[in-house]
Amino acid sequence: MNQLLLWVSVLTSLLEAFAATDMSGKVFIFPKESNSAHVSLITHLEKPLQNFTVCLRAYTDLSRSYSLFSYSIQTKSNEIVIYKPRIGEYHFIIGGDIVFFRVSELFPEPVHICASWESSSGIAELWVNGKPLVRKGLRQGYSLGAHPKIVLGQEQDSYGGRFDKSQSFVGEIGDLYMWDSVLSPQDIQLVYTGSYIKPNILDWQALNYKTQGYVVTKPQRWS
Ligand SMILES: *[C@@H]1O[C@H](CO)[C@@H](O)[C@H](O)[C@H]1NC(C)=O
Repeated sequence: MNQLLLWVSVLTSLLEAFAATDMSGKVFIFPKESNSAHVSLITHLEKPLQNFTVCLRAYTDLSRSYSLFSYSIQTKSNEIVIYKPRIGEYHFIIGGDIVFFRVSELFPEPVHICASWESSSGIAELWVNGKPLVRKGLRQGYSLGAHPKIVLGQEQDSYGGRFDKSQSFVGEIGDLYMWDSVLSPQDIQLVYTGSYIKPNILDWQALNYKTQGYVVTKPQRWS
């Protein structure tokens, strides 16, 4: 790398580091249904992913379907999706394939969710409020594409766009973390109870993001 390029890249990383926001104790509120309001989460994921865990808290009184987490790559809009089709059910999509999870739940109640997937076994785990749901499997041996566009508040039907109002999220989202490994049950419990386990993909305490449309940041009032 020549000198100039090196400095440009050092400067870019510095700027990006400074752009990270500590969102501890805060949430994004998506106050109104739309096909545009969303948060783009910026990562530096340069290599395909074999394993991951993503955790977040959400509070909504929507009874229709909505997307909680949408990770697209250039060639596949549904590379990772955590989707809530109705009360008592979750959809977890990996590389365009889908598995279903059933859960007994109160409504409307704040929820803590952790979803993980391991390529070598294909096993998908979903933990709701620290409780493991029946494990499913899909896409064994697959690798998830790098350079994702990750969106909260909307479901991507193309790389970074083509949102559908009927799948939009209306409510509050906080405590979002993503690791490039499958967390142990002990770690899931720690995250559920609010401990910090340093993530290497998305870190709520050092979040690089961009909001678009009507999205408001406020202190969290629930947990
Ligand atoms: C993914 O997980 C498997 C099994 O848990 C492990 O053997 C493998 O090394 C992991 N891959 C990476 C890239 O971390």
